[in-house]
Amino acid sequence: MSDLIFEEWDELRNDYKLLKMANETYLKKLKEVTNLQQTCLKHLVHQRYRITAINKNIKQLEKKGNTDGLDNIKNDIMKREAELHIIEQTLPKQSGKYLKIVLGSIDVSFLNKEDKFKYKDEYEKFKLINHVIAFLLAVLNMYCYFRPLELIYLCFLVWYYCTISIRESILKTNGSRIKGWWRIHHILSTIASAVLLVWPDNETWSQFRQQFLWYNVYNCFIQYLQFKYQRGALYRLKALGERDNMDITIEGFHSWMWRGLTFLLPCLFIGHLFQLCNAILLYKLSQHPQASWHVVVSSALFFIFFVGNTITTIMVIPNKIREKVKFQYRVVTQRLYNVMINDNSADSKND
Ligand code: COA
Repeated sequence: MSDLIFEEWDELRNDYKLLKMANETYLKKLKEVTNLQQTCLKHLVHQRYRITAINKNIKQLEKKGNTDGLDNIKNDIMKREAELHIIEQTLPKQSGKYLKIVLGSIDVSFLNKEDKFKYKDEYEKFKLINHVIAFLLAVLNMYCYFRPLELIYLCFLVWYYCTISIRESILKTNGSRIKGWWRIHHILSTIASAVLLVWPDNETWSQFRQQFLWYNVYNCFIQYLQFKYQRGALYRLKALGERDNMDITIEGFHSWMWRGLTFLLPCLFIGHLFQLCNAILLYKLSQHPQASWHVVVSSALFFIFFVGNTITTIMVIPNKIREKVKFQYRVVTQRLYNVMINDNSADSKND
């Protein structure tokens, strides 16, 4: 029996040597990777710095009316910017200020495209599930006037908006093109929900309560439409970037997107009008003798939502038309990049 133990221990000692060797190689490679990341980041900064300078010179030449051959350089710059964006996605990134305050200085960048895709997909699902819960709570509150239930609903909204603003900051760190306004909107929504939570249960609140609940029910409906659109876009964009993809073309994607937007935008604008109605009702309620500061602050926040959401949503259309060429370069570059990565990994397998 004791001989067996010695034999087993010797065997395990040999296995441990293998583990130690593998770990040493791993640490060496990790150091190499860190050094390579730093080198790539330096080159990236250099490329961007020089591109900014060249762009400035191009503008000056254009002002002087000297435009010979400039269109070619401008196209090349657009292509280069698309390439730099793709390279940037493979490198670690610093978190923004909001994430640093909330999470501290931890690295939240995903270096793998598949992980990024999964995170975004999960974010869309997370929003949908929480809007189903919000819808049920809003309907329940509509038919049952029970203060603790109301407070649970408002606490839920504070938690939800706080969580998605963090998730959106992580998405932004990982290269999402989400506009700054949507992130600000969700941070302000956290504040608005917190104000509603501490609003005393008085006459002004009961006059606003029903309209607020209807607004939330409508918002949940819009979020469902947004989910369908955003998830559709996510999967189609992924397919577009894949090199062997035969199912979808850039033109096909654009016609699907415009069809989706034509349906979605009117519903969104009705939602924005609802926000304006909330702001007006709250403004009127602020003249009520029982009105506290919560009424004025909520009115101001709903008005800010109305203005910010309407302007940002209207801007989506000209931005998409203007950035059509950039989008094409991004997709083509992504495909070429995937070809390069796949060929390299095939080569290293053959070696
Ligand atoms: N919230 C979170 N992310 C958003 C967003 C929003 N409201 N709008 C756009 N994004 C994201 C997109 O998913 C995309 O992410 P990616 O780079 O990781 O792929 C990025 O921002 C760029 O999107 P963009 O191309 O500018 O717009 P889009 O076609 O994806 O969506 C709209 C356009 C108009 C449908 C979308 O902006 C929207 O739904 N806006 C209205 C929101 C609103 O008004 N909410 C309040 C309702 S009352």
